Amino acid sequence: MSNERTLVLIKPDGVRRGLVGEILSRYERKGLSLVALEQRTADGDLADEHYAEHVEKDFYPPLRAFITSGPLVALVLEGDSAIEVVRLLNGRTDGRKAEAGSIRGDLALSNRENLVHGSDSAESAAREMAIWFPGLDPQPTA
Ligand code: PPS
Repeated sequence: MSNERTLVLIKPDGVRRGLVGEILSRYERKGLSLVALEQRTADGDLADEHYAEHVEKDFYPPLRAFITSGPLVALVLEGDSAIEVVRLLNGRTDGRKAEAGSIRGDLALSNRENLVHGSDSAESAAREMAIWFPGLDPQPTA
């Protein structure tokens, strides 16, 4: 067993479409625990920090515009293999190609407006939790 914490964003399309409860419920029903949750609107600087590895890519300007376009919900989830489990529940990046049964596979049709972000590694999770929830211990308590 590898108890982990991971950072999830329910992106502005998820809030606009009223899917926060649906998405949270999928994580909770899987058995992950909610450690922290905050609704906020990201500004450009926060977007650049979060997506530091993508800021030079061609797709970044529209991604930046989208992620700052309205409120999002940031959360920290904890559980066994939480980082990998969240990414499985989220599905592939492009909602058009994501597996049926996943959040994106069932609810998204885009690789930009794809509802959710999940940390892709332990290093990313620690970095992203420090950005969105400074002061929160990135390690599970037990
Ligand atoms: S990469 O280059 O393979 O690492 O990129 P990828 O993991 O596929 O995607 C990284 C994040 O960029 C978003 N994305 C896009 N946004 C806007 N337009 C286009 N074309 C696009 N392609 C990818 C994608 O939703 C990923 O967001 P996160 O929040 O990391 O899931």
